[in-house]
Amino acid sequence: MYRTHYSNQITEELNGQRVKIAGWVWEVKDLGGIKFLWIRDREGIVQITAPKKKVEPDIFKLIPKLNAEDVVAVEGVVNFTPKAKLGFEVLPERLEVLSRAKSPLPLDPTGKVKAELDTRLDNRFMDLRNPEVMAIFKIRSSVFKALRDFFHSNDFIEIHTPKIIATATEGGTELFPMKYFERDAFLAQSPQLYKQIMMASGLDRVYEIAPIFRAEEHNTTRHLNEAWSVDSEMAFIENEEEVMGFLERLVAHTIDYVRENNLRELETLNFELEEPKLPFPRLSYDRALEILGDLGKEIPWGEDIDTEGEKLLGRYMLENEDAPLYFLYRYPSEAKPFYIMRYDEKPEISRAFDLEYRGVEISSGGQREHRHDVLVEQIKGKGLNPESFEFYLKTFQYGMPPHGGFGLGAERLIKQMLNLPNIREVVLFPRDRKRLTP
Ligand code: AMO
Repeated sequence: MYRTHYSNQITEELNGQRVKIAGWVWEVKDLGGIKFLWIRDREGIVQITAPKKKVEPDIFKLIPKLNAEDVVAVEGVVNFTPKAKLGFEVLPERLEVLSRAKSPLPLDPTGKVKAELDTRLDNRFMDLRNPEVMAIFKIRSSVFKALRDFFHSNDFIEIHTPKIIATATEGGTELFPMKYFERDAFLAQSPQLYKQIMMASGLDRVYEIAPIFRAEEHNTTRHLNEAWSVDSEMAFIENEEEVMGFLERLVAHTIDYVRENNLRELETLNFELEEPKLPFPRLSYDRALEILGDLGKEIPWGEDIDTEGEKLLGRYMLENEDAPLYFLYRYPSEAKPFYIMRYDEKPEISRAFDLEYRGVEISSGGQREHRHDVLVEQIKGKGLNPESFEFYLKTFQYGMPPHGGFGLGAERLIKQMLNLPNIREVVLFPRDRKRLTP
């Protein structure tokens, strides 16, 4: 192996010992009688110090010939000294060039010279060498781990549902059509129908973390055409509040996990992630419209709250309630999909909710309509044909418990958690209106 330690694993106990370091050339400095080389690996930077009298002549001569971003491996002795900027240095006994980097580079991985997002995404491999960019993806990895851990410690079972499907669930305009042999099919925009079908199986509490595909009309800073959705469904609930209660604990756990396990990454990003406070405030749709009205934005009752309205509410909740995270609930039934349950005593109001983070919707969900006949009427009421939902509706006729769930956009969660300007920042290779490669 070319590497025995990552840069951050070199601690004082290793003083005087031999280690192997491998990575990319960050910087080279030639001071005549002493040469310096900084090597960057996944976890940080190591200084290699080569005084003429103490190292092999070959190594001494090679260091100034190295280019930024060459891949090198060094074997040497650790020396803890206050003279070194990082507190320690490595005196090289062997230096090997494993791969050369062409010059000029497609972008500056130190981030000193800023590049456009498009250039960065076109050269993502190089962009990721910037420690700030890499920090985002280490946090993304932690987020997925925290989500999975929380589901399992709350007795949820992981499921996997098909991504090639025959029917729309969230409205027909966002579907990617495809040919499935002789038939028409679509890429799944949500596992909605399948996770609900699982409620009729007795699995009771399920989750799925998988891609969803949406042919979004416009390029925005919060829409992707391929996103990762954290979907969950739970049976035997009495109301939507039980789903909201679970969702807020899941999100709070995930944020806490990042706060505890990604200190270095948050520091690299120079970002202070605030501790989430439970419970998140619940803001009814009616109250939201009132607040917006006071802020000079009128939304006719029944219409969805648009992006501008969401932003205004986000600022209001932060300034007045100190709440970056809050629920919007009791939505008008006409603004929500057919599968959402309505209040029996007030059918114009639904048991749907959205979870907002700094003025952006990161999740939506609700209690579902589990009564077959009511569900059929709601499908018809939305102008859809119950026959297209036969495989789904069938499961409501042989014992379907009351249930509810949510879909949480992983990229939206991470973008809003880190207060990043564009959702593409948290995706390795984003798929948007223009982008199909890399
Ligand atoms: P909805 O359509 O609101 O609900 O989607 C749920 C969550 O998924 C994320 N999301 C997206 N993220 C990035 N780019 C997109 N184009 C995109 N579209 C959606 C958002 C959103 O809040 N079946 C329901 C969920 C449920 O009721 O369980 C659904 O799909 O964060």
